Amino acid sequence: MPAPASARRRADWLRAEITRHDHRYYALDDPEIPDAEYDRLVGELRELEQRHPELVRPDSPTQRVGGVPVAGFAEVRHQVPMLSLDNAFTREEVEAFDRRVRERLEARHEIDYACEPKLDGVAIGITWRDGVLEQAATRGDGTTGEDVTHNVRTIRSVPLRLGGRGWPALLEARGEVFLPLAGFAAMNRRAAEQGEKTFVNPRNAAAGSLRQLDPRLAASRPLDVFFYGVGRIEGAQLGDRHSGILEALRSWGLRTAPEARVVRGVDGLLAYYEDLGQRRSGLPYQIDGVVYKVDSLDLQRRLGFVARAPRWAIAHKFPAEEELTTVRAIEWQVGRTGALTPVARLEPVFVGGATVSNATLHNIDELLRKDVRVGDTVILRRAGDVIPEVVRVIPERRPRGTAPVSLPATCPVCGSEVTREEGEAIARCSGALICPAQRKETLRHFASRRALDIEGLGTKLIDQLVDGGLVRSPADLYALRAEDLAALERMGEKSAANLVEALDHSRATTLPRFLYALGIRDVGEATAAALASYFGSLQAIREATPEQIMEVPDVGPVVAGHVHAFFAEPRNEAVIAALLRHGLHWPALPKPAPGATPLAGQTFVLTGRLDSLTRDEAGDRIRALGGKVAGSVSKNTHYVVAGADAGSKLDKANRLGVPILDEAGLLQLLGGA
Ligand code: IVH
Repeated sequence: MPAPASARRRADWLRAEITRHDHRYYALDDPEIPDAEYDRLVGELRELEQRHPELVRPDSPTQRVGGVPVAGFAEVRHQVPMLSLDNAFTREEVEAFDRRVRERLEARHEIDYACEPKLDGVAIGITWRDGVLEQAATRGDGTTGEDVTHNVRTIRSVPLRLGGRGWPALLEARGEVFLPLAGFAAMNRRAAEQGEKTFVNPRNAAAGSLRQLDPRLAASRPLDVFFYGVGRIEGAQLGDRHSGILEALRSWGLRTAPEARVVRGVDGLLAYYEDLGQRRSGLPYQIDGVVYKVDSLDLQRRLGFVARAPRWAIAHKFPAEEELTTVRAIEWQVGRTGALTPVARLEPVFVGGATVSNATLHNIDELLRKDVRVGDTVILRRAGDVIPEVVRVIPERRPRGTAPVSLPATCPVCGSEVTREEGEAIARCSGALICPAQRKETLRHFASRRALDIEGLGTKLIDQLVDGGLVRSPADLYALRAEDLAALERMGEKSAANLVEALDHSRATTLPRFLYALGIRDVGEATAAALASYFGSLQAIREATPEQIMEVPDVGPVVAGHVHAFFAEPRNEAVIAALLRHGLHWPALPKPAPGATPLAGQTFVLTGRLDSLTRDEAGDRIRALGGKVAGSVSKNTHYVVAGADAGSKLDKANRLGVPILDEAGLLQLLGGA
């Protein structure tokens, strides 16, 4: 029975409506209706098509997953070859590129360039005939690729039918298929839970997903595409600029990189590179560089190609974030609280813009899970400012005769027993007060910039003082005389006198700094400030019960327990008493009144240079009023305080719509405090 006209009209309407919502949801990240409403539309269309199979059309949103696996990948010959790009790694190479372009064009003016992120994914060419998706092919060798239409159809941001107006009768758009980082992480988490193989990086995961014969697999992975150009085109012209092509693609519902910009001249290129390099680690997808393209299509034609790459474009690569290196040794570091941390000593390697020779392995569980051994070749990752990390071992390159690492039974520094509480990942040296490593770490922390800020008391000197038996606790520092110090190796009279002066200077401090300097477990700067402003005096904190300590904002039972236990320990009390005897002091805090923490619950991010106070001081004052100071901007940030030369944090605040304060605004908020 042929479908009645009303059913046909309804199906057409549903298809158009679902396509429109797909575009809003997947391409614009701006859904208009709740998911349930969307599901209802799809359900209704599916039912109509089941009842009247003649209504099914290949561009129907119900037809994304074809259901049947393909037998193999058919070859696709690219009518317009898919080229690659030359690479530039340095500023000079970019300058040379711009010079070549201008010389060849005999240009007297600066060139306009279209700049885009270089996505780390899989190149794809997707063809729409009369607006309907017909074929998707991988790059292959540039001339012949593989037909992956069945998988690309499952990518929700790829329209099965073009939207907008004026598209050519035949359009092949070129772009990069990729897995956003969040989707990649979720996919690997799921795989790990089910005991399946995890993927090394998003690019491999994207490539692996496209090479599935069964489209249901690709459909279950959150793939996405950014388009960056066109291949074959018939039946229309596309304007005269690359940036115009991107605009046209966008108007037909294809996704392009939001970071794309047109800049002028080589300075514009380098500024773009700088800017994106800074934002790189905050982007939701992996990029390995930026691509510069001469924007004018006419100039592109005049420049032409060499071998397999255009003369009018170049990829400017970022330093690789992952490199191979080998493990020379695995050592155990003993921290301030006795925690044993395994550290891999590595063959130095340049990665993520820095030379790295150490990487933490976090704890014994992590070490055993990754099974890192001395002699192993490992993938080392350093992304942005994140500390370097051993991603995994390359088992194929493991030399013969290696042994798994195990937790030492005794502390490598003092020989005390190593203990590990039930269910805890962290093992600790039980030598507390006799362990020189713990003593040294305690002193380092005590002297550090955000604690008592004792200038000139560095790591080497602390080692000498502890190893020589001159100092056992922070209080001993204040008993040091210039002549004791001058007798030490590599220590002149001048530096000895300077250190005594610095120590003297450090006697005048603040209660939050003093509390932080004590190195109580889990008491960072924020907690120290909160304790100080809640209790008002050291005496009050010493006398507080765990229950009272838990009244402090953001302090839970674990931290309260640590604070209480610290002051209950007679040896700690003895050190504190000695410090006070040596004249450490701080201004009394006003008795806390209700409302003394007007900034409680508010998170600030400080960026740029302030005039009337340093960022540290501003942070101290924010914390004193109960506020928090965070290092990076997120949607949970309440204010970004922007001083002179504020950079990417300010950009991010603008993007997320976080309120921005200038110095005057901050001072006003801090009031008379
Ligand atoms: S343009 C003729 N633009 O990088 C120009 N390529 O070596 C050809 N890629 O496999 C490519 N992001 O898949 C271009 N914004 C971008 C890109 C990009 C990533 C990939 C592309 C190709 C490789 C070039």
